[in-house]
Amino acid sequence: MRDDETTAPGPTAGIADSLLDWYDRHARVLPWRVPPGDTRAPDPYRVWLSEVMLQQTTVAAVKDYFHRFTERWPTVSDLAAAEDGAVMGEWAGLGYYARARNLLKCARVVTADHGGRFPDTHDALLSLPGIGPYTAAAISAIAFGRPETVMDGNVERVMARLYDIHAPLPGAKPELRAHAAALTPGERPGDYAQAVMDLGATICTPKSPACGICPVYAPCAARRKGTANLLPRKSPKKAKPTRYGIIYLVRRTDGAWLLERRPDKGLLGGMLGWPGSDWAATPAETPPLDAEWDTLPAQVRHTFTHFHLILTVRTTVAAIDARPATGSFVTSADFRPSDLPTVMRKAFDLWRGA
Ligand code: ADE
Repeated sequence: MRDDETTAPGPTAGIADSLLDWYDRHARVLPWRVPPGDTRAPDPYRVWLSEVMLQQTTVAAVKDYFHRFTERWPTVSDLAAAEDGAVMGEWAGLGYYARARNLLKCARVVTADHGGRFPDTHDALLSLPGIGPYTAAAISAIAFGRPETVMDGNVERVMARLYDIHAPLPGAKPELRAHAAALTPGERPGDYAQAVMDLGATICTPKSPACGICPVYAPCAARRKGTANLLPRKSPKKAKPTRYGIIYLVRRTDGAWLLERRPDKGLLGGMLGWPGSDWAATPAETPPLDAEWDTLPAQVRHTFTHFHLILTVRTTVAAIDARPATGSFVTSADFRPSDLPTVMRKAFDLWRGA
């Protein structure tokens, strides 16, 4: 038991203050963040871009993407003027590609309809493409200092533990949100939102939380009861089905690769990829050329949100005058494997023997 435990204030009193004090000393240094104490106003473009990138992904995975995007497109109007394929290529590997398509749509609406300035209210933000309740609240709080309740997985975990809530997610969301809303302070709501997220990422971690150094050690109900490691509980997930597909890697004798841009709608929409079959229980062959096909000994395995995918990879070398039924050849000088989404990149890596 720590000294401060017996002298703890009421269950919620002082929690926001403790978190802000902790944030003042331990805020993570992040490329999109204005550190606590710095009086510069956050740039809404950088806040928006980082929050869209961070959905479903970790800070570590996002940092390089954020640097590349902001170097190439320093303002929202620069991004709005970008070619779709350039943005999709820079996003490749981050996943959830609908986010990238909506990012571009949003940049164009902000530029065309709002003079290149993000609106500063939650409701106006919510009306923009790709901005849902989480992102609208995060931008309102962080960029515009509005006391919005910002809920993500980290915040849900912190609330479940602080209040020892055993009802499983996702059903427990409204209860967790009510606690988070009650704690959100009128002062420094942006720093507060980031403090809770940092706490969840660094101390109140999913496994083995570091309760001994937690700034809200004293008021935390789960810590007192020894249940922190069990929380948040989650309703059992449905098992993911497995789908199968066949993709065709066609290399022309001059080294060019046959690629196609996938339709905007649907999985990997707008991304470059290898021509291939539908993804199904038993896919039908759809070779883009009449050719002798070799089959790589290993298959590509990839997991999407709702299913596992196993791809068989067929390869061939095509003559310089080959006329494929789909896609177009990209010269070896223009071909950048980093433009491919991860599942397509895995096929290329298998071909290379990586
Ligand atoms: N995760 C998502 N957004 C974040 C932010 N602004 N600070 C810390 N972690 C985050």
